[in-house]
Amino acid sequence: MQLLTLIMRTIWLMLPSYTPNNFAVIFGGGKPIDLGKNFIDGRRILGNGKTYRGMIAGVLGGLIVAHCEFLIEKLFNFHIFTTLSYLEFLKLAFVLSFGSILGDCFGSFIKRRFGVERGEKFPILDQYDFLLVSLFLAWLFCRKQFQSLFTFDVIIVAFILTPILHRLVNIIAYKLGLKDVPW
Ligand code: CTP
Ligand code: MG
Repeated sequence: MQLLTLIMRTIWLMLPSYTPNNFAVIFGGGKPIDLGKNFIDGRRILGNGKTYRGMIAGVLGGLIVAHCEFLIEKLFNFHIFTTLSYLEFLKLAFVLSFGSILGDCFGSFIKRRFGVERGEKFPILDQYDFLLVSLFLAWLFCRKQFQSLFTFDVIIVAFILTPILHRLVNIIAYKLGLKDVPW
């Protein structure tokens, strides 16, 4: 497969995992998931940056994006997600979106344990937490879909591309005033 096609295909496949955190940034806020509680080390479990509203908006946002992709494939007659049955697709879309938000929360949990405050950067973890958990859950719960779509080349490209896209999107979100810091 041509490199450019592979890159486009990878981004297309990863969009339900890439987009939830952007929806969380836009629509998040309010009650924190950890309810303001501390962990045994006296630091916050997750911190104020992980909220219920962000979580719900993130998962719904990812599902909406995935459905748009499904419709676009049908409309323009190219088949990636539409090689799956609708139910297989729905399950995969949910697992990727939910896994992305869960991974982001897990990343914050680790950050707090290292004493890294909310919003401070933690290279590598910030870029890969959501991707790793998304892909792991897809492998765990949607084995058939995972094996047919997330081929080895796609995963390699996803790992190379993700930090670049992550950086780019966060700089844009910062310039738009959606995020306080450009990471
Ligand atoms: N957000 C949210 N709920 C989530 C995830 C994100 O409300 N589950 C919102 C918060 O307003 C958060 C912003 O999106 O501040 C940016 O997300 P992120 O960079 O993941 O959080 P940080 O504030 O940087 O916190 P952390 O250090 O824990 O990553
Ligand atoms: Mg952050």
